[in-house]
Amino acid sequence: MNYYLVLTCPLWLESLAKKEIELLWLPIINSQDKQITTTYSDENIAKLNLWSRIWNKIYIETIKKEKIDTFDKLFDLIKNVKWKDFIIENNPIVVNATSINSELSSLPAIQKIAKKAIVDNLSNTFLREDDNFATIYVEVVLIKDTCQILIDTTWEALHKRWYRRQSVEAPLRENLAAWLVLLSGWRFSEQFYDMFCWSWTIAIEAAMIAKNIAPWLYRKFAFEKFKFIKPWVLEIEKEKAKEKIMNKTYNIIASDLDHNAIEIAKINAKNAQVQDIISFEEKDFRDYLSENISWTLVSNPPYWLRIQNEDLDKLYKDIASIFTKNKDLKWWIITNYQFWDLLKYDYKKRKLYNWWEMCYFYSKVNQLKK
Ligand SMILES: C[S@@+](CC[C@H](N)C(=O)[O-])C[C@H]1O[C@@H](n2cnc3c(N)ncnc32)[C@H](O)[C@@H]1O
Repeated sequence: MNYYLVLTCPLWLESLAKKEIELLWLPIINSQDKQITTTYSDENIAKLNLWSRIWNKIYIETIKKEKIDTFDKLFDLIKNVKWKDFIIENNPIVVNATSINSELSSLPAIQKIAKKAIVDNLSNTFLREDDNFATIYVEVVLIKDTCQILIDTTWEALHKRWYRRQSVEAPLRENLAAWLVLLSGWRFSEQFYDMFCWSWTIAIEAAMIAKNIAPWLYRKFAFEKFKFIKPWVLEIEKEKAKEKIMNKTYNIIASDLDHNAIEIAKINAKNAQVQDIISFEEKDFRDYLSENISWTLVSNPPYWLRIQNEDLDKLYKDIASIFTKNKDLKWWIITNYQFWDLLKYDYKKRKLYNWWEMCYFYSKVNQLKK
């Protein structure tokens, strides 16, 4: 089949998402905001879904993108897709639509036209949808009048790891946490700290990266039921992934003031099979003021949405004191509290979104401020 795979990821995480694709030895055919394109094969669908630390979903691009500004053109484009390559039983079809800055903006109308075009294309062969067969999720994406027709191979988005069976309010998205750890350049032989760990996310993602555990080894994907994909490829890729798990000693310390959060973190770490390499401690971060810590720290301290402002000033002053005292510590902080005046060392900052909140990811530059 002459198709492509399109991977989506959160805005500004594209460069690391690309590296992850290259680590799987796959080519980057195209890259734009929130989207990367690579080659299509059944094996690649399985591999990319299993190993996706940063991407949200993996789609099949069914036809070349086109400029579309009328419903007639949309109908023709969708009707020209070779739907018989994908819909080879009486599969139920669900059409989702997105429209950003485009002439065609009514999502229900786009969905209706799309469904009509697909049924029209298939009408000689398949007339009935049957719930006993796999549902094919079709995405019609219009951005500035450029239209993509995609098939979702993933189903539930890949930032929700299987280990998150116990949840607390508003954790970091797991793919963002993985991105933070990868960007920190943590060397697995060194100590790793998160002193505001809440429920787990940063520490568990760090542990899974260190152990080289494929993030999706134990979940179901939409493509498993697709008749046009070889049924054995996923099992083969899973076996290969299991062989790649590293069983070395690592030193990850995750602490938080909140007793319940630590208990949930332990359960989630067990689910992720990394409980043996994380020490969870119920601890006020200020205890680190009297300790020497070194190597790498990646943390997500509370910020304005979660606690009062006067407490925050004191909290960030104390965080800055820990950093000043521990000169060998490489630290990375994600927050939307602006605390650069408190820092004695130079820092870099990058913008990113944690869900809908704009945040900065601060990192130490190893020289004193001038
Ligand atoms: C923004 S949340 C961290 C979220 C976490 N990264 C996650 O994804 O689940 C901030 C955490 O800081 C903790 N915290 C607040 N004050 C603290 C203190 N003095 N010492 C240690 N932890 C504290 C809170 O209990 C909360 O769990």
